[in-house]
Amino acid sequence: MNRYSEMIYNRCGRSGLKLPAISLGLWHNFGSVDVFSNMQEMAKTAFDLGITHFDLANNYGPVGGSAEENFGKILRTTLHGHRDELIISTKAGYGMWPGPYGDGGSRKYMLASLDQSLKRLGLDYVDIFYSHRFDKDTPLEETMGALASAVKQGKALYVGVSNYDAAQTRRAYEILKDMGVTLLINQPCYNMLNRWIEPELVPTLEELGVGSISFSPLAQGQLTDRYLKGIPSDSRAAKPWGFLKEKDITPEKLAKISKLNEIAASRGQTLAEMALVWNLKQGRLTSVLIGASRPEQIRDNVAALKNRDFTPDELSAIDAVLRG
Ligand SMILES: NC(=O)c1ccc[n+]([C@@H]2O[C@H](COP(=O)([O-])OP(=O)(O)OC[C@H]3O[C@@H](n4cnc5c(N)ncnc54)[C@H](OP(=O)(O)O)[C@@H]3O)[C@@H](O)[C@H]2O)c1
Repeated sequence: MNRYSEMIYNRCGRSGLKLPAISLGLWHNFGSVDVFSNMQEMAKTAFDLGITHFDLANNYGPVGGSAEENFGKILRTTLHGHRDELIISTKAGYGMWPGPYGDGGSRKYMLASLDQSLKRLGLDYVDIFYSHRFDKDTPLEETMGALASAVKQGKALYVGVSNYDAAQTRRAYEILKDMGVTLLINQPCYNMLNRWIEPELVPTLEELGVGSISFSPLAQGQLTDRYLKGIPSDSRAAKPWGFLKEKDITPEKLAKISKLNEIAASRGQTLAEMALVWNLKQGRLTSVLIGASRPEQIRDNVAALKNRDFTPDELSAIDAVLRG
């Protein structure tokens, strides 16, 4: 098997690091509430298709921390012996443990959290350590200083920011640069239903030479055929945890999704496939960070790369649906 023959690898900003055009995130379906054999199968499927990048955060689960523990087990079993072929990221920024030192962007929280993540993952270092969110109550110099320390201590090879807007990213980049560290990447939410990065963040990242990876490119499953015939009992929207709720799947949204599904079908693609390649192109991204609940979804999503071109007519038809 040649796991590297089909995947596309894009240079991350002006760094020397290449990321797969499709990466796998472990926010959902890798927690202590999920089935371990399915996680192993998903990780194996992803890696065998050339997905070399797996994205985590301290709080992924539920329960918080359990996705890192499970991925640590996967690294010791399914992916054993492949550490140098993998890019593993984690983050700190949202609430993780009680008290004033388990949330935000302080040096105290960021570096303690990274040590905890490394322990759960069973690793000496992660490839990318992120500030998960901008914390207005902490000087940005302190949060960036914690990221720079992680690099200098050898606990992270690269650093990133997530959920930072264009101005926050520019400042983060400049502070890190003064500390001799390059900001590798920004991880924003971006998909057909949420295009906030297009006017300012995308050009800023290009100017600075910082890479980009979009999270929730399928709007948590809404930009797929998952909800076209109701809410399946095993879908994310039906589960009691998480942020996607049944009430988010409105008739107006479903009408748009049905029209997008027709455009995808006319291209010979599933809606998930079309949404991902649209994301890569319109967001001018290094990678799209998908989630999955089963191996077949990962196979479907990687197959998207076989048809990445859009005609101007297709792009305007999609825009018309999204505007409507
Ligand atoms: N930095 C941040 O603040 C932040 C926030 C959110 C996410 N993230 C990162 O981004 C990653 C991805 O986020 P996400 O899980 O929301 O991504 P997503 O790709 O938008 O949604 C994933 C869900 O879509 C459905 N799906 C995926 N492929 C499908 C296919 N081919 N056909 C039908 N349905 C399909 C599945 O839903 P079902 O489960 O219903 O099958 C799956 O769980 C996370 O794991 C995490 O690493 C980061």
